[in-house]
Amino acid sequence: MAEATPARTPLDRLPVWAELGKHRAELGDTHLRDLFAADAKRGETYALTVGDLYVDYSKHLVTDRTLALLRELAVATDVAGLRDAMFRGEKINVTEHRAVLHTALRAPADAVVEVDGENVVPKVHAVLRKMSDFAEQVRNGSWTGHTGRRIRNVVNIGIGGSDLGPAMAVEVLRPYTDRGLTVRFVSNVDGADLHEAVRDLDAAETLFIVASKTFTTIETVTNATSARSWVLRQLGAGQEAVAKHFVALSTNAEKVAEFGIDTANMFEFWDWVGGRYSMDSAIGLSIMIAIGPEAFEELLAGFRLVDEHFRTAPAEQNVPLLLGLLGVWYGSFFDAQSHAVLPYSHYLSKFTAYLQQLDMESNGKSVQRDGKPVDWQTGPVVWGTPGTNGQHAYYQLLHQGTKVIPADFIGFAEPVAELESELAAQHDLLMANFFAQTQALAFGKTPEEVRAEGVPEELVAPKTFKGNHPTTTILARALTPSVLGQLIALYEHKVFTQGAVWNIDSFDQWGVELGKVLAKKIEPVLVEGKGGESLDSSTATLADRYRDIRGR
Ligand code: F6P
Repeated sequence: MAEATPARTPLDRLPVWAELGKHRAELGDTHLRDLFAADAKRGETYALTVGDLYVDYSKHLVTDRTLALLRELAVATDVAGLRDAMFRGEKINVTEHRAVLHTALRAPADAVVEVDGENVVPKVHAVLRKMSDFAEQVRNGSWTGHTGRRIRNVVNIGIGGSDLGPAMAVEVLRPYTDRGLTVRFVSNVDGADLHEAVRDLDAAETLFIVASKTFTTIETVTNATSARSWVLRQLGAGQEAVAKHFVALSTNAEKVAEFGIDTANMFEFWDWVGGRYSMDSAIGLSIMIAIGPEAFEELLAGFRLVDEHFRTAPAEQNVPLLLGLLGVWYGSFFDAQSHAVLPYSHYLSKFTAYLQQLDMESNGKSVQRDGKPVDWQTGPVVWGTPGTNGQHAYYQLLHQGTKVIPADFIGFAEPVAELESELAAQHDLLMANFFAQTQALAFGKTPEEVRAEGVPEELVAPKTFKGNHPTTTILARALTPSVLGQLIALYEHKVFTQGAVWNIDSFDQWGVELGKVLAKKIEPVLVEGKGGESLDSSTATLADRYRDIRGR
């Protein structure tokens, strides 16, 4: 067991946990309307700033006492101790015995972060330089394909952390991308994904980035193998064409070479970078090609800013700490099962999907760091899509359903610069919706207010909004590369805080293994009809039906 994880008192036996329970009972049905009425300045004082992000947490079901108790909880669970151990490079991923150093990926060149006595920062910057040189060559046309044509299409093949971050960031930063380049992402082992990604592309102008930390992930290796066949077929070329059309992002040079990619065309990262924390490692190459090395550095600077804030800001001002603690509060004391993230930006359409892996793969755990079962709620179901679309779909449940669903609203004061004036003018309407929703969720509409509008008595109940739904509002001036980095680091450290409080290992993902092993056993049953007798009767019947349909 690593130094950072001494045996500790179970969370639910800490005196402060009991205090929080008592406090929750005392709060009872206290309404946000009461909290705002009691404190005319609540909207100003219950807000914090980190970098370019203004974070309003006034519409949460908390008082000064709640916040003080939650901070006490952070002390009692030594969140700061584990945080410092992470930044120092200690092996806080206890089940895999690994350091957790995504923060080193954005450390300045002169920083020193040691893993097993070696400073890893020079290696990080060497890879960043190599990525930068390569990205420039692709962007300026000096990197050409096998037939000498310049690269106009980049297809990243990867899955999970080797896909979601880059796919999300390229979408978010579309206005910053070289519009002459087509950048696509293939993740699904469903052949339709690769088919749709390449069907209108010219192989002579297409570069594939095979992104896989382990380089053993079956979906990625299968898609990369098919992509290689496609390139060689389209170009009528032999293996020698691979070098100009395939590069790899991986920690596993041996497997990369085995696949046939020259390791000179491999961009390295390390086992202390978790897949879901890897988008600012070599895994971000597609982002760097799309937006250029300079904007990529701005993205890293955004991450760095929030890293520093999380590491040094006092608890009262520490935004990721606060957001993490609020999640613990709702999970255990309001029985909230899910958490919505609702961006009011079209460009953030993939942001919540990215956060699903970050949060749910990190904190979807039910044993503590020492293997004992947890007796408290851990990570929530994270979900959401861009806000205005959601308003016409599932917001009904947020407003009038029976569930407690804390929600983050993310919005920007300025529309993106490249919108022409008529479209830019729509921004006020978008943002009016943004502000209106958190207001409606918090304060609702009382039966008296409904009656005062002359609504017939039988419709008063259906038209009443209980309100009291907790939300965080995150507002920034504009969605820049730096702001994206700030937002992601904010959520990374929020997730970290919760894992520390819950005493779980937020950096392993054993829960995804069983399905992978079983799929390997089931494939021969489907293809060759072999081994069906070892399956349960449901799976065996389904497999038979599948084989029948396929005429096998
Ligand atoms: O199966 C889960 C997982 O290991 C994720 O944690 C990871 O991001 C993804 O698969 C992809 O792994 P790799 O980068 O090794 O292909």
